[in-house]
Amino acid sequence: MMELPNVTFTPAQLRWRQIAHEIARKYLLPQAAKHDRHASYNDDAFRAAAEAGLLGLWIPKEYGGSADGILGLSLVVEELSKADPAFGVAFAVNALGSIPVIVGGTEEQKRRYLPRVARGECSCAFALSEKFAGSDAGGLSVQARKMDGGWLVNGEKKWTTNGSRADLITLFAVTDPTSKSRRISAFLVEKTDPGFFIKKVEDKMGIRMVPVCETGYKNVHLSDDRLLGGQPGLGFKHSMMTLDWARPGVAAQAVGTAAGALELAVTYAQKRKQFGQPISSFQMIQGMLADMAMKTEAARWLVYTAAQMADNGTRHISKYAAMCKCFATDTAMQVATDAVQIFGGYGYMEDYPIAKFMRDAKILQIYEGTNQVQRMVIARHLIKEAMEFDYLNEQIPTETQETYGAEYEIVNV
Ligand code: CAA
Repeated sequence: MMELPNVTFTPAQLRWRQIAHEIARKYLLPQAAKHDRHASYNDDAFRAAAEAGLLGLWIPKEYGGSADGILGLSLVVEELSKADPAFGVAFAVNALGSIPVIVGGTEEQKRRYLPRVARGECSCAFALSEKFAGSDAGGLSVQARKMDGGWLVNGEKKWTTNGSRADLITLFAVTDPTSKSRRISAFLVEKTDPGFFIKKVEDKMGIRMVPVCETGYKNVHLSDDRLLGGQPGLGFKHSMMTLDWARPGVAAQAVGTAAGALELAVTYAQKRKQFGQPISSFQMIQGMLADMAMKTEAARWLVYTAAQMADNGTRHISKYAAMCKCFATDTAMQVATDAVQIFGGYGYMEDYPIAKFMRDAKILQIYEGTNQVQRMVIARHLIKEAMEFDYLNEQIPTETQETYGAEYEIVNV
């Protein structure tokens, strides 16, 4: 029987949420449009988040964090994203880049990096994707070659969010091209490592505040203690385990995006008058708002559920992480698009903040695994679970079972 997650918030998690709300009001709402226009980073908001201790939320106490888990992280990311989805990812990418150290790092690596991340002194990035390896995360080409006392890294990564700001880049590279399952290893690259460079800062449709870069590695020499976990060949697993923990964070960014767009749409619908009355009095607008609210609320609770499951170490976390990422990000795109519709012609212009929500929402369906990949992950889990316990076989007569059994074998070849 499926495990029933019991979502409960600790007083500390609710306090962090309140702090994030205050930071959002003070540093994000007034500055989001400016940073979007100039593609400039909101240093004030990042500093405030670091000083308040938000960067330690997902880090265990023994490494200087507050151990408020993926649920604490999700509550905070949602609040930040409601005001500025771009800052939501600028913040959450620090979790994505440091979770590999938590899931796979040696004790020494944890002690070296995590306390600095928690204090906001070590900003992070996660360098997995490449020009020719996006959804196919196993098909990487960046090489790390073993040499005396360390590794020599060469190649380029694509779409490294926070790449030009990060102090620590978790890099995934091929260490054994002949192996299928142990081909990849993760390395801890520091921005001061000779040979590390920023090849290009992308010009984006949305989330313009946070730099997304092509990062380059030209004969970067990394000592053995930079190999995550101290053992080669574990990189693919480390990347997948990290994404299982991080996807509720991107889903929380989506919930915040949807909630922010919905709030703007409700307010605008009350102010905008047509045919002598506020458009909020028209049933078609009310229907849209109601649908937007229902979907946002459903996404919110799926995210909290997945986040709580990640914190509890539940077995089916991959499936739930994929479900919340896919559902919440599709919701954000739809809600932001409908919000623009409610704003009408004004929604298409940059005079109001709503156009930015629609531009910021699109990437949510693409990064940290496209929603096509999420659906594939979910379906693979459903099929695996169905094979563990055959519900259909329990309920059909013996003669049908014989035919069904034959077809069943074929389906699972
Ligand atoms: N946890 C642990 N291990 C896992 C795992 C998980 N969640 N998922 C798979 N594995 C293991 C499997 O058990 C298997 O192990 P063995 O070889 O020992 O049997 C191995 O990993 C290979 O698994 P698959 O056969 O399932 O791998 P696949 O090649 O079919 O790919 C995939 C699976 C789901 C498509 C995966 O490649 C994937 O998630 N792709 C999307 C990548 C992604 O999210 N990229 C975004 C990067 S982050 C970003 O967007 C940038 C940013 O800065 C925000």
